[in-house]
Amino acid sequence: MPLVSMRQLLDEAAKGGYGVGAFNVNNMEQIQSIMEAARETKSPVIVQASRGARSYSNDRFLYHLMIAATELYPEVPTVLHLDHGNSVETCKSAIEMGFTSVMMDGSLMSDGKTPSSFEYNVKTTREVVEMAHARGITVEGEIGCLGGIEDGHGAGGDGLSHLTDPAQAVEFVKATGVDALAIAIGTSHGAYKFTQKPTGATLKMDVLIEIHKRLPNTHLVMHGSSSVPKELQDVINQYGGKLKPTWGVPVEEIQLGIRNGVRKINVDTDNRLAITGAIRKVFMEKPEEFDPRSYLKPAREAMKKVVAERMRQFGQAGHGADYTPVTMEAMADRYAKAEAAKA
Ligand code: G3H
Ligand code: 13P
Ligand code: ZN
Repeated sequence: MPLVSMRQLLDEAAKGGYGVGAFNVNNMEQIQSIMEAARETKSPVIVQASRGARSYSNDRFLYHLMIAATELYPEVPTVLHLDHGNSVETCKSAIEMGFTSVMMDGSLMSDGKTPSSFEYNVKTTREVVEMAHARGITVEGEIGCLGGIEDGHGAGGDGLSHLTDPAQAVEFVKATGVDALAIAIGTSHGAYKFTQKPTGATLKMDVLIEIHKRLPNTHLVMHGSSSVPKELQDVINQYGGKLKPTWGVPVEEIQLGIRNGVRKINVDTDNRLAITGAIRKVFMEKPEEFDPRSYLKPAREAMKKVVAERMRQFGQAGHGADYTPVTMEAMADRYAKAEAAKA
């Protein structure tokens, strides 16, 4: 089947009461890991590319690798999503390339680190919604800012300075018409999220629950949701790495989120850790090896294992064949009818 709408995947997830992981990719091996995990667990899947990924890979390569994925895994409903679009132009180029979903992250200015005004966020996001919905493409917006700056998307600090205000979230969804809403509840991108296991004071699940109460029909998105498991940190350090002790978002907190409206969960760092650990292991144990396949194969396998585990934990496993994906044209029609009904 062709690449499909993220909105439909999230609507189905809401009906089924489960979450869907959105996994970042930069290259062929990462795409293969995710598609193999989706096949093994019979899951629908969201594959996402950041601006950095698009420029690293030259996004035509990524796009065509994703088309290959749809040909090789025809039974897997697969979304290609733009992660953290920083401007209307970035979203436009992804839409024109064939992405079936885009994130307009107007919570930050286009530099990816300066918190923006509510008005700027509404204006840019609304513009993307109009452009995307006309083609049936899904839009994710963000209100409130994540902390950290490790990967260039974040307002800095510990993630508590720009939490989402639930009242503003309601206003934002109404003013923009986004399909999914990313919220800030204390997480940050990257490995260094929390200096100890998060508590209710550092990971604000109460804010998430309040937003869900006020927006029961909006699909919520958790960014910065890698769990940064100690086992993955240990493999890296055992084979010569130098990670400092750190904590991520416990899977049980994500599951609490899923029971409270979270439908998309963004995971990148856990996969980066798994890949790096596997490669370091080969480099240390077999220093005579120089065929890239000798370390990329175990890296691919290690990432697949993490992705399959998350798919089971988020509940998407077993739901890949629940429904027939609609065409992007049908989605465009659906959006147009909804708009007309509002007028
Ligand atoms: O948004 C964060 C993802 O981990 C992507 O990171 O911008 O380094 O590709 P990146
Ligand atoms: P992690 O760094 O926690 O994996 O988060 C990834 C993310 O939110 C991508 O948008
Ligand atoms: Zn993110």
